[in-house]
Amino acid sequence: MLVLESLLADFTQELKDIHKIADLLNLKAKYIGKQGPLADVMKNLKDATPEEKRTIGVRANELKQAIESLVGHKMQELELQEINAGLAISKIDVSLTDSVIEKGLQAAGYHPVTIVQQEIEDIFISMGFEVLDGPHIEDEYHNFEALNIPASHPARDMQDTFWFADKKHLLRTHTSTIQIRGMKERKPPFRFVGPGKVFRCERTDASHEMVFHQLEGMMVGEDVSVGNLIYFMKTLLSEIFKRDVEVRLRPGFFPFVEPGFELDIKCLICAGKGCSVCKQVGWVELLPCGLVHPNVLKAGGIDPEKHSGFAFGLGLDRLVMMKYGIDDIRYLHAGDLRFNSQFKSF
Ligand code: DAH
Repeated sequence: MLVLESLLADFTQELKDIHKIADLLNLKAKYIGKQGPLADVMKNLKDATPEEKRTIGVRANELKQAIESLVGHKMQELELQEINAGLAISKIDVSLTDSVIEKGLQAAGYHPVTIVQQEIEDIFISMGFEVLDGPHIEDEYHNFEALNIPASHPARDMQDTFWFADKKHLLRTHTSTIQIRGMKERKPPFRFVGPGKVFRCERTDASHEMVFHQLEGMMVGEDVSVGNLIYFMKTLLSEIFKRDVEVRLRPGFFPFVEPGFELDIKCLICAGKGCSVCKQVGWVELLPCGLVHPNVLKAGGIDPEKHSGFAFGLGLDRLVMMKYGIDDIRYLHAGDLRFNSQFKSF
């Protein structure tokens, strides 16, 4: 009986330190399991008198029930705690944006190049253009040869190239590579743009970076002319700047177009007076373009006798600088949140 009477007190004492369901089950087994003290007492009853059997048996049963009931209550308590802990972790706080800002953390936003790129894509999509992608790592053929720049051509030096050790692969120096892949995969008439990063092994300054962004454009069909080219470029620029911008067209040399042009816009940073962005000239080269060279059409599987086309390569970073009045291209790639967070947030 002595053992029995201290049992409940011992159990209650130990129960206080239980905080996990698994521990509770162990404690229950320790006291009222098959190997526990209660089971021992019952086993030893065979030698007791009938009177003892009755009283001890009744008392043992009472204790077992008391312990089971305590375990049951504790179990409910612990299950509730577990559910609440789980809810606390997965709780969705719909007011989080505000509280994040209150705590001085910054909400995420789009990079200005992304904003402008998406705007321009939308403009071209509304004019019936597709948007294509292309690989950053290119081969010599797509970056140079197919674009009418053979191995010994001096034009290869116009673009300082990051070559891979095999001397056959490179980081694309321009998005014109997208022209070749785009032509091969379609039949005229077609029109598409291809935006993306390009890479040049150049010294950096206020208007040069080693990584920058271009948006290539191409339209091929019957009788596509300089007239079409000028129409699309003018529409593009007035949509982008949402105001009148002065433009000028100069002859320009690019092996993949003939004739080739440079389309300049009056510098919007200094209104043509001269600054670091326009290299004191007052004009910014923005849109080199031209009629696609017959050799390039051939490389794309298109018969230059039947079809013609125009192409252009828009410098996105300069455009961003003009649009937002940024006077140094290096801000765009510095990853400084004070700069980046000034643009549209999500
Ligand atoms: N790929 C040229 C460059 O990065 C830019 C360019 C010029 C693209 C004329 C064109 C074009 O499509 O017609 O310097």
